[in-house]
Amino acid sequence: MEPMIKKCLFPVAGYGTRFLPATKAMPKEILPIVDKPLVQYAVEEAAEAGLTDIGFVTGRAKRAIEDHFDISYELEHQIAGTGKEQALEGIRSLIETCTFSYTRQMHMRGLGDAILKGETIVGDEPFGVVLADDLCIGEEQGVLAQMVGLYRQYRCSIVAIEEVPADQTHSYGVIDGEQISDRLVRVTNMVEKPAPQDAPSNLAIIGRYVLTPDIFDIIRETPPGRNGEVQITDALLQQAKSGCVMAYKFKGRRFDCGSVSGFVEATNYYYDKIRAKQ
Ligand code: G1P
Repeated sequence: MEPMIKKCLFPVAGYGTRFLPATKAMPKEILPIVDKPLVQYAVEEAAEAGLTDIGFVTGRAKRAIEDHFDISYELEHQIAGTGKEQALEGIRSLIETCTFSYTRQMHMRGLGDAILKGETIVGDEPFGVVLADDLCIGEEQGVLAQMVGLYRQYRCSIVAIEEVPADQTHSYGVIDGEQISDRLVRVTNMVEKPAPQDAPSNLAIIGRYVLTPDIFDIIRETPPGRNGEVQITDALLQQAKSGCVMAYKFKGRRFDCGSVSGFVEATNYYYDKIRAKQ
């Protein structure tokens, strides 16, 4: 039986210091692009890919995320029968389609550690990971759906990549490998946040992963790396050495909403889209 991917992890424990003071009392994932929180775009992308078991690796001061993915009886009662009901249709159908689980990352020990905390939700199945900061607009299909399709073909971990200018490699995990086809590279090397002179290429990992569950044991054995944190990039390099990891140049566009400039670009993009429909 082919293992189906149903589960998707959302590491959301980070502080979002780049958006202070906005993120002082509010999770950065709740910041809206026009009228929808970043985290809702991310969960919609997972649901579209058929990943409807949603697992948040969360932290202190993030309760608004749980409330967002639940019914708000008081609000629904208030707007029942008015035109405003329509604004909740998207989130309502998402809540009906998906299940939501939460586990906490107590200490900020890196993305690898956050994913390992999700093991209790994922178990022994392949799964997706979405970083809500990276807002992705796929062509035809969402980026995660594209990756799930590839997983069915290759049955190994897959990271989404895009080309970045040399002076930005220090913000990303950067890969190198053997070109399999136009959009696919079999990974042979990976470095977390290299300086331009140390970068093995200009192919940067963006916040979409499909991982096979053997990654959990590998993360457990992975020592802290860049910034003293347990890096998923380091664990994936180990996995690439013993098995297979693919990097996929996704079809679509990505906004780095973890930066103010990317956030504003995404806002303008969606605003123009909404205006065009009116
Ligand atoms: C994380 C990963 C990095 C990846 C990036 C994508 O870094 O560690 O490898 O390229 O996400 O957004 P962060 O942006 O959380 O520092």
